[in-house]
Amino acid sequence: MRTYLVTGGAGFIGSNYIHYMFRKYDNEIRIINVDALTYAGNLENLKDIEDRDNYTFIKADITDKDAISKIFEENDIDRVVHFAAESHVDRSIRNPEVFVHTNVMGTAVMLNCAKAAWELPDGSYKEGKKFLHVSTDEVYGSLPDDGKSFFYETTPYQPHSPYSASKASSDMLVKSYIDTYHFPANITNTSNNYGPYQFPEKLIPLIINNALNGKALPVYGDGMNIRDWLYVDDHAKGIDMVQEQGRLGQTYNIGGHNEKRNIEIINIIIETLQEILPDSDPRKANVSKDLITYVEDRKGHDRRYAIAPDKIKEEIGWEPETMFKDGIKKTIAWYLEHMDWMENVTSGDYQKYYEDMYSGK
Ligand code: NAD
Ligand code: DAU
Repeated sequence: MRTYLVTGGAGFIGSNYIHYMFRKYDNEIRIINVDALTYAGNLENLKDIEDRDNYTFIKADITDKDAISKIFEENDIDRVVHFAAESHVDRSIRNPEVFVHTNVMGTAVMLNCAKAAWELPDGSYKEGKKFLHVSTDEVYGSLPDDGKSFFYETTPYQPHSPYSASKASSDMLVKSYIDTYHFPANITNTSNNYGPYQFPEKLIPLIINNALNGKALPVYGDGMNIRDWLYVDDHAKGIDMVQEQGRLGQTYNIGGHNEKRNIEIINIIIETLQEILPDSDPRKANVSKDLITYVEDRKGHDRRYAIAPDKIKEEIGWEPETMFKDGIKKTIAWYLEHMDWMENVTSGDYQKYYEDMYSGK
């Protein structure tokens, strides 16, 4: 039975990945989820799997060398899937240091501990051990708004925000371990994910939540920035396929072939809410395009992201499966059915962040 060490499994993509892996492999694998439970980590995301015999949660910080090496000493880990990170661009603009600490130092600790546990005296590695570093398309910078240029694995890194700079640094560290120590790793660089369990500081759940509550829908700048949206289950499947079928040492871009301007996304959410909320639901009256509010632009706001997922398609056979029109409906329906989840995560610290973040805009 393969044992996985998943970092950041209580976050958005990590928790969806864990669900996906148990749906796919059931009792054939064991998962150890290591998460520090920052504001973005939420064990409620994993409530339905927490009693499984083949699942263990360990609260630990990836920058804590002793805690992480102890996990490797006590468990024969076969796969590392490294999600844990500070992930929100706006927070990185306000407080860059924690991004450097978690994303760069944390990745260094994960690499070092895995290497120490897996390396044999002759410098080779124990059979079958693999490390997958989950990264972002933001490391490539911004594309012109021309609809025909794309991010490839060979595109030079040109990160603009402290978040993307910290992810670029962590990618470079992984590459350095591959080149220097022949460390058995892969990197995936993925476009914007959407789906259940996403923290409502990110565009899609923030707009859903605000629209339902009749609150302003903040659009940065002219609303014409483009993101390439990928349903989170398709991402989970891509990660698993890269780890099992990818060539070790390689980077694979994972993208949805689904470019949308921010204002389009906001309009789609409003229209979908108006379509699926029953007339008897009092929140329906709140949902209106009049809530759209143009606010000051994000500093250093990247104009366009678009991934060319050619390599992963040709080498591994992965392709995005979820059409945006279906994925966004499923996502909105999930949030409507889980308003208690939304209320739990938007109370407390998040409330303060939200007020600070949007008060001047
Ligand atoms: P998230 O913010 O929802 O979750 C991050 C998780 O990491 C949380 O559970 C948090 O508690 C945990 N964490 C943070 N600091 C930690 C630390 N020091 N030690 C242990 N755990 C810690 O993030 P997400 O959106 O799920 O993103 C997951 C990964 O995927 C990140 O590496 C991100 O850069 C990458 N990524 C995200 C997207 C996206 O659209 N969300 C796209 C491409 C890549
Ligand atoms: O591309 C992958 C990246 O996608 C990941 O690496 C990041 O972890 C993830 O957060 C996401 O980054 P973005 O900055 O693209 O996502 P966000 O949801 O914050 O913003 C999406 C777009 O919407 C962006 O152009 C900014 C805009 N926006 C965002 C918010 C929160 C608004 O116009 N208003 C808002 O209130």
